[in-house]
Amino acid sequence: MIAIGCDHAGVEMKKYIIETLALEGFDMLDLGTDGEPCDYPDMAEKVCQKVTSGECEKGILICGTGIGMSIAANKIKGIRAALCTDSFSTKYTRLHNDANVMCLGARTLGCGLAAELVQIFLTTGFEGGRHQRRVDHITGLENK
Ligand code: RB5
Repeated sequence: MIAIGCDHAGVEMKKYIIETLALEGFDMLDLGTDGEPCDYPDMAEKVCQKVTSGECEKGILICGTGIGMSIAANKIKGIRAALCTDSFSTKYTRLHNDANVMCLGARTLGCGLAAELVQIFLTTGFEGGRHQRRVDHITGLENK
């Protein structure tokens, strides 16, 4: 199950992603908002809680730029959130950073590109090896 949420800037993109990814067999848990204005840190917390609890394997967050969501999500213990803007960084944030949340900008990306980035994010595995040590180091920073 994949948790997805947005603020008021990302409603149309969230809808498009859910519809597109459903056709490809992904189960999405839609946490809103469906139009009513909301503050992006509230939504970041809601989606990330589903990931840290293990209820959802990954999360997708959408705001105007994706930046506010990234900043908020990365304050939450256990979350490695990546602002995804292109296919290369989306692929490598899974391979090398084991990112568990992706953030998208509804005002900076088209819906078609965003849906393609989601597909890359959800189908690329973590490479492990030397990257595990670095990810463990990040986890260590959370506990300082
Ligand atoms: C909301 O207008 C906007 O500030 C928000 O969606 C986001 O871009 C913040 O980073």
